[in-house]
Amino acid sequence: MTKVLITGGAGFIGYHLAKRLARQKGYNITLVDNFFRGKRDADFTALIALTNITFIEADLTEPKSWKKLGGGYDHVYHLVGVNGTRLFYEIPHEVLRIGVSTTVNALDWFRIENKKKGAKILYTSSNEAYSSALEAFGKLPLPTPENVPLVIADTYNPRWSYGGQKLIGELFFIHYAKAYDFRMSIVRPHNFYGPREGYEHVVPETIVRVINKVEPFPIFGAEDTRSFCYIDDAVEALQMVMESKKTDGGTYHIGTKEETVIKYLVENIFDLMKWRPKKLDIKKSPKGSVKRRLADVSKIKKDTGWSAKTSLAKGLKKTIDWYLKNPKP
Ligand SMILES: NC(=O)c1ccc[n+]([C@@H]2O[C@H](COP(=O)([O-])OP(=O)(O)OC[C@H]3O[C@@H](n4cnc5c(N)ncnc54)[C@H](O)[C@@H]3O)[C@@H](O)[C@H]2O)c1
Repeated sequence: MTKVLITGGAGFIGYHLAKRLARQKGYNITLVDNFFRGKRDADFTALIALTNITFIEADLTEPKSWKKLGGGYDHVYHLVGVNGTRLFYEIPHEVLRIGVSTTVNALDWFRIENKKKGAKILYTSSNEAYSSALEAFGKLPLPTPENVPLVIADTYNPRWSYGGQKLIGELFFIHYAKAYDFRMSIVRPHNFYGPREGYEHVVPETIVRVINKVEPFPIFGAEDTRSFCYIDDAVEALQMVMESKKTDGGTYHIGTKEETVIKYLVENIFDLMKWRPKKLDIKKSPKGSVKRRLADVSKIKKDTGWSAKTSLAKGLKKTIDWYLKNPKP
């Protein structure tokens, strides 16, 4: 039996990862979360009712909370963090405090308390650890490989609280693993989307506006690009990085090869939902939002064989179906 711990387990990625592992034989999964952002909704309640899942409610910024988790885990997915662009601007000090303290606590608990030979811990960093290089220097290779410099364009722009704590998190993982000789990998997710993502990211926000037939229809950063990766593909990638020996000590981009213009994404959602506004209201993206983003995903393909399979249209269709059944509260 493989004993798995997922921190931030009530969140978007944690929920889908746990659901994926719970369906496979041989996993015993513990989820931990304090519902800072994750929700105890019907999907989550059904998930934690499964016999191979245990849920612990705890605030992981507190070192003593980690004692509640016990030890002996084979795989630790350290997903906890403050996601959601609005929060980067509103509470940058908390984004930093929660991100850094939970990461240091995770590493100290893992090296001292976990006590399992050959155990591995995985860190979800972010593309935001490098993406402000485009704003700072006006250039960034596209698609972007893992080894570009990590850059904070402007320490006074609250947005970069998020990228800053991810950059620090990567350094902690790399140097703790070397100093204390344990297994780890770092992944940088690139715009995962899918059911139960919350209501504050571009895909769900657009779907909700279509449901509400908003006129004129706002599109923020219409000409910006992102690469959207469907959540089922994304959690498969996380598992493959965790379960490979070749990925030990490495950093991996997870994303698709498709660079999607935001306006095109929104047009796709109009088509799939069979509704179109009479007037568009094209708005600027918030200061610090990056114009283009596309990951080089050849390293993960080379080392694990993983590549994204779900087309944008198929992933959006599944996402729309979920949001139609689960309207914004
Ligand atoms: N979703 C993406 O596309 C994406 C992109 C880049 C990076 N990431 C990173 O991946 C990780 C997971 O992302 P997500 O989309 O699932 O975010 P999420 O916000 O849905 O999940 C994070 C979870 O952490 C929990 N949490 C926050 N503070 C906590 C605390 N003190 N103690 C215990 N739990 C706490 C939240 O309640 C939430 O359920 C995050 O670290 C995020 O920064 C995600």
